[in-house]
Amino acid sequence: MGQPQQQEGTETRTETGTDAGSDTGKPPLRVGMVGYAFMGAAHSQGWRTAGRVFDLPLNPELAVICGRDAGAVRAAADRHGWAATETDWRALVERDDVDLVDICTPGDSHAEIALAALAAGKHVLCEKPLANSVAEAEAMTRAAEQAHGRGQVAMVGFNYRRVPATALARRMVAEGRLGRLRHVRVAYLQDWLVDPQFPLTWRLRREQAGSGSLGDLGAHIVDLAQYLVGEPLAGVSALTETFVRERPLPGGPTSGLSAVSTVGTGAVTVDDAALFTGRFASGALASFEATRYATGRKNALRIELNGERGSLAFDLERLNELSYHDGTEPGGHAGFRRILVTEPDHPYLDAWWPPGHGLGYEHTFVHQARDLVHAVAEGRRPDPSFADGLQVQRVLAAVEESAEKNSVYTPIAA
Ligand SMILES: NC(=O)c1ccc[n+]([C@@H]2O[C@H](COP(=O)([O-])OP(=O)(O)OC[C@H]3O[C@@H](n4cnc5c(N)ncnc54)[C@H](O)[C@@H]3O)[C@@H](O)[C@H]2O)c1
Repeated sequence: MGQPQQQEGTETRTETGTDAGSDTGKPPLRVGMVGYAFMGAAHSQGWRTAGRVFDLPLNPELAVICGRDAGAVRAAADRHGWAATETDWRALVERDDVDLVDICTPGDSHAEIALAALAAGKHVLCEKPLANSVAEAEAMTRAAEQAHGRGQVAMVGFNYRRVPATALARRMVAEGRLGRLRHVRVAYLQDWLVDPQFPLTWRLRREQAGSGSLGDLGAHIVDLAQYLVGEPLAGVSALTETFVRERPLPGGPTSGLSAVSTVGTGAVTVDDAALFTGRFASGALASFEATRYATGRKNALRIELNGERGSLAFDLERLNELSYHDGTEPGGHAGFRRILVTEPDHPYLDAWWPPGHGLGYEHTFVHQARDLVHAVAEGRRPDPSFADGLQVQRVLAAVEESAEKNSVYTPIAA
């Protein structure tokens, strides 16, 4: 669990005077964010931009940012446009001028921060995977359900639902354009661990990350597959592997994806790759591959759905495109066609650029902020909720259990 980096009673509050919000005349939604590195920067972009692109019922304000190093968090506040800083997340959670706590830290602190934030009456956005264990995710979901009765909202950050092309794919599946689904084929491929000298950052430590490729990349593709299909997985059969078991230890400042220097070596305690097959209750078969060893593949999240009436295919490295095959067309002219997902009637696109001008990775965080602001204003459960995050956590646990038992088919707990 995350530790405060200060003595009790020590003043950590710093007002930077940054003009973080815009004067829209709408009620504010004052955000307090914990963590300011990779996801901290991405979420800052989302909060900064959402109210300037979309017509929102509340005005997101970048109120307070928290990190453990006072100098570094102040620099992050200045860079990303946050009004004030804290060096202890507990102080941030208790502040009266924070309405929503946004958790952008490694998984070992998600449960503690989320539970404290919900108890303090805040709305919560928590990065994926929701927690490091099913037990933590269950406690978070229980707390979120109770808090919902008090008008609070809790969302987990599966941002790939918010690529316009994946949201369009969901719409087309729900419209029945693919008919009954037979196959769901998913892979999330990266290659940043191919070098055995890559340092042993928190992402390679079970006590901090919960698991490796499985919880990082696998969580995304399990959520995306279930979202697109519209139902949960019933069971899985899995293989996991740790290819490089000893790596250099970070010697100085480190993030999940880098270290300035190294000293000695330590044991990798998470999976490097996870492969699993799965079954949906409706009968569709699924295959999943999550790896950080796909040499040459940087952030290739690929998904293909085959149904009785048609197929869809998506690749995150070409995220403005969706491939669609209409299986009801006459054979002579049939084939996959490329839908350029930039039209104003495509999901999220009415607020953006003219057709063909394209969006990127960071826009998923703008859309996430937009959708969460609407859920808060309307007092409804957001998609994906903590309950959705818990269900993904149960799939991850079933994958690990299956892999430990020589790939035995393992049902997902309801
Ligand atoms: N949605 C996505 O596409 C996506 C992508 C990357 C990471 N993530 C998730 O986001 C989370 C963070 O990952 P990251 O890549 O941003 O990590 P990171 O290492 O880049 O940043 C982690 C941040 O958390 C801070 N931190 C750690 N413990 C803390 C504590 N106790 N109190 C205050 N600050 C603390 C660190 O100082 C740092 O600023 C993880 O859950 C990860 O799985 C999601």
